[in-house]
Amino acid sequence: MSLRYLTAGESHGRALVGIIEGIPAGLALDAAYLHRQAKRRKLGFGRGNRQNIETDAIEILAGVRFGRTLGSPIALMIENRDWRAWSEIMAVEPLSAEAEANMRRVVTVPRPGHADRIGGIKYAHGDMRNVLERASARETAARVALGSVARRFLEELGIRVASRVVQIGEIVDRSSFDAIPFEENELERIDASPVRALDETAAAQMVAAIERAKAAGDTLGGIVEVVARGLPVGLGSYAHWDRRLEAEIARAFMALNAIKGVELGLGFGLAATPGSSAHDAFYPGDGAAKTVYRTNRAGGIDGGMTSGQPIVVRAAMKPLATLMKPLDSVDLGTGEAKSAHVERSDVCAVPAAAVIGESLLALVLAAAVLEKFGGDTLDEIAERVRGWDATVRAR
Ligand SMILES: Cc1cc2nc3c(=O)[nH]c(=O)nc-3n(C[C@H](O)[C@H](O)[C@H](O)COP(=O)(O)O)c2cc1C
Repeated sequence: MSLRYLTAGESHGRALVGIIEGIPAGLALDAAYLHRQAKRRKLGFGRGNRQNIETDAIEILAGVRFGRTLGSPIALMIENRDWRAWSEIMAVEPLSAEAEANMRRVVTVPRPGHADRIGGIKYAHGDMRNVLERASARETAARVALGSVARRFLEELGIRVASRVVQIGEIVDRSSFDAIPFEENELERIDASPVRALDETAAAQMVAAIERAKAAGDTLGGIVEVVARGLPVGLGSYAHWDRRLEAEIARAFMALNAIKGVELGLGFGLAATPGSSAHDAFYPGDGAAKTVYRTNRAGGIDGGMTSGQPIVVRAAMKPLATLMKPLDSVDLGTGEAKSAHVERSDVCAVPAAAVIGESLLALVLAAAVLEKFGGDTLDEIAERVRGWDATVRAR
């Protein structure tokens, strides 16, 4: 196991925490870097009021000394500022009889499209707040914090991860992923777009679509694209099914709340493309390598391994399931037909999903790098990566 991580924390609990184990010693890491990345998750038109309440400041609790990783597990904490208003409702201590009688914000009417109903049945929670607090995408703040550690590690090896929004509702941005800015100092350009679109006309149309959905008490989904470049050839493997890198990527993205489809490169489009224009042919190299590509239809992975071309992942997000004009539901306490519970909610979280996707991809790639190159210190790994690049050029 080269890299592992865990998160804990309820949406309105005291804090989110994350632990990541397997990051080598000697990596420069500070809370300001993590905070910069965390703030990017909060951007985007269509988010709810919660984003104004939370600062998502990240505290490093363990694993770093004098600004460098120690090689020991790294523990991170993000306090939920909203907890102050929820400290009684989310108390850790047992309830007094009086507090139980006056309990507020009990959820007995599940929201269709959420974990509420099934989670309540599965864990025997009559109050489905016990489900939604953890099923909420607030948890992704912790995954972004951990993913930002992975991102910092990859940066040292020349590997960059970035993202954009391709589609919101029916509005599509047809620009190429080649225009996505990658360097930290360039990220502001796409972060400044209200919806992380590359094309300004499409961005304006997306904003208008979100406004219309909001006015109608509705929600919108979309498609995000996450790209990594600067990759060594041969991360992952064809040798066994559970070493195929695209499978790890698909798992990480399908594990993000509300993501219902994932594709690499031409993805679903390949179904209608003839073989003559579906693949990436090889051409004689320019001296630096024996072969080069002119296309990247595979999205950077062939046979379960990185080709050295950019990895291009797209993920489809369903429209959020909490509607201000609520869907039909049933009160599970009384059996009566009711409108679904309304919890404070976003109208569209597609731009946030794109930023979260960067962290998810970074975590998968960091694990794949550690698996191929091993090493306990950053220097050791960086040297192995450089040596491998020279080997690849000669093959
Ligand atoms: C960044 C982000 C923000 C989200 N915000 C909301 C929200 O405000 N309201 C909502 O109903 N669902 C929201 N979701 C989606 C739910 O978390 C998700 O649909 C729910 O947990 C059910 O899981 P499933 O869609 O994966 O089946 C959000 C998802 C993400 C990735």
